[in-house]
Amino acid sequence: MDLFLKDRVAIVTGGASGIGRKICHTYAEEGVHPVIFDIHEENGKKVVKECGDIGTEALLFHGDCSSEEACLQAVRETIGKFGKVDILVHNAAPYTDGSAVMPFLKQTQKMWDDFVNTILWGAIYTTKAVLPHMFELQYGRIVYISSDAGRTGDAFQAVYGACKAGLAGFMKSMAQYGGRKNVLVNIASPALTLTDENEPMLNLAYKYDTEEGKKRVAKAYPTGKISTAQDLANMVVFLTSDRSSNLTGQVIGVDGGYFMPAP
Ligand SMILES: NC(=O)c1ccc[n+]([C@@H]2O[C@H](COP(=O)([O-])OP(=O)(O)OC[C@H]3O[C@@H](n4cnc5c(N)ncnc54)[C@H](O)[C@@H]3O)[C@@H](O)[C@H]2O)c1
Repeated sequence: MDLFLKDRVAIVTGGASGIGRKICHTYAEEGVHPVIFDIHEENGKKVVKECGDIGTEALLFHGDCSSEEACLQAVRETIGKFGKVDILVHNAAPYTDGSAVMPFLKQTQKMWDDFVNTILWGAIYTTKAVLPHMFELQYGRIVYISSDAGRTGDAFQAVYGACKAGLAGFMKSMAQYGGRKNVLVNIASPALTLTDENEPMLNLAYKYDTEEGKKRVAKAYPTGKISTAQDLANMVVFLTSDRSSNLTGQVIGVDGGYFMPAP
Protein backbone atom coordinates (compact mmCIF):
# COMPACT_ATOMS: atom_id res chain seq x y z
CA MET A 1 0.00 0.00 0.00
CA ASP A 2 1.40 3.38 -0.97
CA LEU A 3 1.21 5.69 2.04
CA PHE A 4 1.65 8.75 -0.22
CA LEU A 5 4.42 10.02 2.04
CA LYS A 6 7.12 10.71 -0.51
CA ASP A 7 8.83 14.09 0.01
CA ARG A 8 6.90 14.87 3.17
CA VAL A 9 9.01 16.50 5.91
CA ALA A 10 8.82 15.24 9.51
CA ILE A 11 10.34 16.70 12.68
CA VAL A 12 10.99 13.92 15.22
CA THR A 13 12.02 14.94 18.74
CA GLY A 14 14.21 12.29 20.35
CA GLY A 15 14.93 10.95 16.87
CA ALA A 16 18.53 10.05 17.70
CA SER A 17 17.75 6.87 19.64
CA GLY A 18 15.28 4.06 20.30
CA ILE A 19 11.72 4.43 19.05
CA GLY A 20 12.44 7.86 17.51
CA ARG A 21 15.39 6.49 15.57
CA LYS A 22 13.25 3.65 14.21
CA ILE A 23 10.55 6.16 13.23
CA CYS A 24 13.22 8.11 11.27
CA HIS A 25 14.42 4.93 9.52
CA THR A 26 10.85 4.02 8.57
CA TYR A 27 10.17 7.53 7.30
CA ALA A 28 13.36 7.28 5.24
CA GLU A 29 12.06 4.03 3.70
CA GLU A 30 8.88 5.89 2.72
CA GLY A 31 10.79 8.81 1.14
CA VAL A 32 10.05 11.25 3.99
CA HIS A 33 12.78 13.72 5.02
CA PRO A 34 13.21 13.25 8.78
CA VAL A 35 14.51 16.11 10.92
CA ILE A 36 16.13 14.64 14.01
CA PHE A 37 15.58 17.11 16.85
CA ASP A 38 17.68 15.80 19.72
CA ILE A 39 20.04 16.84 22.51
CA HIS A 40 22.41 14.01 21.63
CA GLU A 41 24.45 15.38 18.72
CA GLU A 42 26.64 12.36 18.04
CA ASN A 43 23.72 9.91 17.93
CA GLY A 44 21.75 12.39 15.82
CA LYS A 45 24.54 12.53 13.24
CA LYS A 46 24.53 8.73 13.07
CA VAL A 47 20.78 8.67 12.34
CA VAL A 48 21.20 11.28 9.59
CA LYS A 49 23.78 8.98 8.01
CA GLU A 50 21.58 5.90 8.46
CA CYS A 51 18.67 7.68 6.74
CA GLY A 52 21.04 8.70 3.93
CA ASP A 53 22.10 5.07 3.54
CA ILE A 54 18.42 4.10 3.29
CA GLY A 55 18.09 6.69 0.52
CA THR A 56 16.61 9.86 2.02
CA GLU A 57 18.18 13.14 2.98
CA ALA A 58 17.70 13.87 6.69
CA LEU A 59 18.65 16.84 8.85
CA LEU A 60 19.92 17.07 12.41
CA PHE A 61 18.68 19.85 14.63
CA HIS A 62 20.79 19.64 17.75
CA GLY A 63 18.69 21.19 20.51
CA ASP A 64 16.48 20.82 23.54
CA CYS A 65 12.74 20.63 22.85
CA SER A 66 11.93 22.05 26.29
CA SER A 67 13.21 25.41 25.01
CA GLU A 68 10.69 27.46 23.03
CA GLU A 69 13.47 29.24 21.14
CA ALA A 70 15.00 25.90 20.12
CA CYS A 71 11.62 24.70 18.83
CA LEU A 72 11.12 27.86 16.77
CA GLN A 73 14.67 27.56 15.42
CA ALA A 74 14.14 23.87 14.55
CA VAL A 75 11.12 24.82 12.46
CA ARG A 76 12.98 27.75 10.81
CA GLU A 77 15.91 25.47 9.87
CA THR A 78 13.58 22.74 8.61
CA ILE A 79 11.71 25.18 6.37
CA GLY A 80 15.06 26.68 5.28
CA LYS A 81 16.29 23.26 4.21
CA PHE A 82 13.18 21.45 2.94
CA GLY A 83 10.69 24.30 2.40
CA LYS A 84 7.97 23.02 4.77
CA VAL A 85 7.00 20.91 7.79
CA ASP A 86 4.21 18.38 7.22
CA ILE A 87 4.63 16.19 10.29
CA LEU A 88 5.60 16.57 13.94
CA VAL A 89 6.36 13.57 16.14
CA HIS A 90 7.08 14.57 19.73
CA ASN A 91 8.75 11.50 21.15
CA ALA A 92 11.56 12.79 23.41
CA ALA A 93 11.50 11.96 27.11
CA PRO A 94 14.18 11.96 29.82
CA TYR A 95 15.36 9.05 32.00
CA THR A 96 14.37 6.43 29.43
CA ASP A 97 17.17 4.26 30.84
CA GLY A 98 14.93 3.61 33.86
CA SER A 99 17.13 5.62 36.23
CA ALA A 100 14.14 7.59 37.54
CA VAL A 101 11.86 4.56 37.99
CA MET A 102 11.49 4.66 41.76
CA PRO A 103 8.88 5.28 44.48
CA PHE A 104 7.37 8.77 44.40
CA LEU A 105 8.92 9.83 47.72
CA LYS A 106 12.41 8.94 46.51
CA GLN A 107 12.25 11.03 43.33
CA THR A 108 13.92 14.44 43.15
CA GLN A 109 12.73 17.88 42.11
CA LYS A 110 15.19 17.72 39.20
CA MET A 111 13.58 14.54 37.88
CA TRP A 112 10.12 16.13 38.09
CA ASP A 113 11.30 19.29 36.34
CA ASP A 114 12.97 17.24 33.60
CA PHE A 115 9.82 15.19 33.01
CA VAL A 116 7.54 18.23 32.87
CA ASN A 117 9.95 20.24 30.73
CA THR A 118 10.72 17.66 28.05
CA ILE A 119 7.38 15.85 27.87
CA LEU A 120 4.86 18.65 28.39
CA TRP A 121 6.66 21.88 27.52
CA GLY A 122 8.27 19.96 24.65
CA ALA A 123 4.81 19.10 23.27
CA ILE A 124 3.48 22.63 23.79
CA TYR A 125 6.48 24.44 22.25
CA THR A 126 6.97 22.10 19.29
CA THR A 127 3.25 22.28 18.50
CA LYS A 128 3.20 26.07 18.85
CA ALA A 129 6.19 26.25 16.50
CA VAL A 130 4.72 24.06 13.72
CA LEU A 131 1.03 25.06 13.84
CA PRO A 132 1.10 28.47 12.08
CA HIS A 133 2.95 26.85 9.18
CA MET A 134 0.62 23.83 9.09
CA PHE A 135 -2.44 26.09 9.20
CA GLU A 136 -1.04 27.98 6.22
CA LEU A 137 -0.47 24.71 4.36
CA GLN A 138 -3.93 23.44 5.44
CA TYR A 139 -2.12 20.20 6.14
CA GLY A 140 -0.47 18.70 9.19
CA ARG A 141 -0.06 15.46 11.07
CA ILE A 142 1.03 15.46 14.71
CA VAL A 143 1.69 12.45 16.93
CA TYR A 144 2.83 12.51 20.54
CA ILE A 145 4.46 9.39 21.94
CA SER A 146 2.93 8.76 25.32
CA SER A 147 3.15 5.78 27.69
CA ASP A 148 0.70 3.35 29.22
CA ALA A 149 2.09 4.55 32.58
CA GLY A 150 -0.10 7.59 31.96
CA ARG A 151 -3.19 5.43 31.44
CA THR A 152 -2.80 2.76 34.12
CA GLY A 153 -0.87 4.75 36.75
CA ASP A 154 2.44 3.47 38.07
CA ALA A 155 3.68 3.89 41.65
CA PHE A 156 7.26 4.01 40.37
CA GLN A 157 6.61 6.50 37.55
CA ALA A 158 4.17 8.94 39.12
CA VAL A 159 5.28 12.25 37.62
CA TYR A 160 6.35 10.70 34.31
CA GLY A 161 2.89 9.08 34.11
CA ALA A 162 1.18 12.36 35.03
CA CYS A 163 3.01 14.13 32.20
CA LYS A 164 2.06 11.42 29.72
CA ALA A 165 -1.58 11.66 30.87
CA GLY A 166 -1.32 15.43 30.45
CA LEU A 167 -0.19 14.90 26.87
CA ALA A 168 -3.53 13.21 26.17
CA GLY A 169 -5.47 16.26 27.38
CA PHE A 170 -3.36 18.58 25.28
CA MET A 171 -3.63 16.28 22.25
CA LYS A 172 -7.45 16.37 22.38
CA SER A 173 -7.49 20.17 22.52
CA MET A 174 -5.07 20.39 19.59
CA ALA A 175 -7.18 17.89 17.62
CA GLN A 176 -10.19 20.18 18.10
CA TYR A 177 -8.15 23.28 17.29
CA GLY A 178 -6.61 21.86 14.11
CA GLY A 179 -9.30 19.59 12.69
CA ARG A 180 -10.93 22.01 10.28
CA LYS A 181 -7.55 23.03 8.95
CA ASN A 182 -6.67 19.42 8.16
CA VAL A 183 -4.21 19.17 11.06
CA LEU A 184 -4.78 15.78 12.68
CA VAL A 185 -3.39 15.10 16.15
CA ASN A 186 -3.11 11.73 17.89
CA ILE A 187 -1.12 9.77 20.45
CA ALA A 188 0.63 6.43 20.10
CA SER A 189 0.94 4.87 23.54
CA PRO A 190 3.53 2.16 24.13
CA ALA A 191 3.92 -0.10 27.13
CA LEU A 192 7.35 -1.68 27.58
CA THR A 193 8.97 -1.57 24.14
CA LEU A 194 12.12 -3.26 22.92
CA THR A 195 14.58 -0.96 21.17
CA ASP A 196 18.14 -1.55 19.96
CA GLU A 197 19.26 0.81 22.70
CA ASN A 198 17.35 -0.57 25.72
CA GLU A 199 17.86 -4.27 25.04
CA PRO A 200 20.93 -4.49 27.35
CA MET A 201 18.88 -2.83 30.14
CA LEU A 202 16.02 -5.32 29.63
CA ASN A 203 18.49 -8.18 29.75
CA LEU A 204 19.88 -6.86 33.01
CA ALA A 205 16.57 -5.98 34.67
CA TYR A 206 14.39 -8.86 33.47
CA LYS A 207 16.85 -11.42 32.06
CA TYR A 208 15.11 -10.74 28.77
CA ASP A 209 17.87 -12.62 26.93
CA THR A 210 16.67 -15.91 28.49
CA GLU A 211 13.55 -17.82 27.44
CA GLU A 212 12.30 -17.79 31.03
CA GLY A 213 12.83 -14.01 31.37
CA LYS A 214 11.09 -13.35 28.06
CA LYS A 215 8.09 -15.44 29.13
CA ARG A 216 7.89 -13.67 32.50
CA VAL A 217 7.88 -10.22 30.88
CA ALA A 218 5.40 -11.25 28.17
CA LYS A 219 2.88 -12.64 30.68
CA ALA A 220 1.27 -9.22 31.21
CA TYR A 221 0.53 -8.81 27.48
CA PRO A 222 -2.51 -10.43 25.82
CA THR A 223 -0.48 -10.98 22.65
CA GLY A 224 2.20 -12.78 24.65
CA LYS A 225 4.90 -10.35 23.56
CA ILE A 226 6.07 -6.80 24.11
CA SER A 227 6.16 -4.29 21.26
CA THR A 228 9.25 -3.42 19.30
CA ALA A 229 10.34 0.03 18.17
CA GLN A 230 9.27 -1.05 14.68
CA ASP A 231 5.70 -1.68 15.91
CA LEU A 232 5.58 1.90 17.15
CA ALA A 233 7.19 3.27 13.98
CA ASN A 234 4.64 1.48 11.78
CA MET A 235 1.73 3.07 13.67
CA VAL A 236 3.28 6.54 13.71
CA VAL A 237 4.07 6.42 10.01
CA PHE A 238 0.50 5.34 9.21
CA LEU A 239 -1.05 8.01 11.47
CA THR A 240 1.04 10.70 9.80
CA SER A 241 0.33 9.55 6.27
CA ASP A 242 -2.35 10.63 3.80
CA ARG A 243 -3.94 7.20 4.32
CA SER A 244 -5.00 8.49 7.72
CA SER A 245 -7.25 11.29 6.57
CA ASN A 246 -9.99 11.45 9.21
CA LEU A 247 -8.46 10.00 12.36
CA THR A 248 -7.83 12.54 15.09
CA GLY A 249 -8.05 13.01 18.86
CA GLN A 250 -7.24 9.37 19.63
CA VAL A 251 -4.89 7.59 22.03
CA ILE A 252 -3.86 4.41 20.25
CA GLY A 253 -2.21 1.74 22.35
CA VAL A 254 0.64 -0.04 20.58
CA ASP A 255 1.10 -2.30 23.53
CA GLY A 256 -0.05 -5.86 22.81
CA GLY A 257 -3.34 -5.06 24.57
CA TYR A 258 -1.60 -4.24 27.86
CA PHE A 259 -4.09 -1.44 28.53
CA MET A 260 -7.64 -1.71 27.24
CA PRO A 261 -9.70 1.46 27.78
CA ALA A 262 -13.35 1.34 28.80
CA PRO A 263 -15.76 1.15 25.84
N1 LIG B 1 11.02 2.09 25.31
C1 LIG B 1 10.00 1.86 26.14
O1 LIG B 1 9.89 0.80 26.80
C2 LIG B 1 8.93 2.91 26.29
C3 LIG B 1 7.75 2.57 26.97
C4 LIG B 1 6.75 3.53 27.10
C5 LIG B 1 6.91 4.79 26.55
N2 LIG B 1 8.08 5.09 25.90
C6 LIG B 1 8.21 6.44 25.35
O2 LIG B 1 8.76 6.37 24.05
C7 LIG B 1 9.56 7.51 23.79
C8 LIG B 1 10.94 7.09 23.30
O3 LIG B 1 11.55 6.24 24.25
P1 LIG B 1 12.86 5.40 23.90
O4 LIG B 1 12.82 4.17 24.72
O5 LIG B 1 12.98 5.29 22.44
O6 LIG B 1 14.01 6.37 24.51
P2 LIG B 1 15.53 6.67 24.03
O7 LIG B 1 16.26 7.09 25.26
O8 LIG B 1 16.07 5.55 23.24
O9 LIG B 1 15.34 7.96 23.11
C9 LIG B 1 14.97 9.21 23.65
C10 LIG B 1 15.69 10.29 22.88
O10 LIG B 1 15.19 11.55 23.34
C11 LIG B 1 16.28 12.46 23.41
N3 LIG B 1 15.91 13.55 24.32
C12 LIG B 1 15.71 13.50 25.67
N4 LIG B 1 15.39 14.70 26.15
C13 LIG B 1 15.36 15.55 25.08
C14 LIG B 1 15.07 16.94 24.92
N5 LIG B 1 14.74 17.70 25.98
N6 LIG B 1 15.13 17.48 23.69
C15 LIG B 1 15.47 16.73 22.61
N7 LIG B 1 15.76 15.41 22.70
C16 LIG B 1 15.70 14.83 23.91
C17 LIG B 1 17.43 11.61 23.91
O11 LIG B 1 18.70 12.21 23.64
C18 LIG B 1 17.22 10.32 23.11
O12 LIG B 1 17.89 10.37 21.87
C19 LIG B 1 9.60 8.32 25.10
O13 LIG B 1 8.63 9.33 25.04
C20 LIG B 1 9.20 7.30 26.15
O14 LIG B 1 8.58 7.90 27.26
C21 LIG B 1 9.10 4.18 25.75
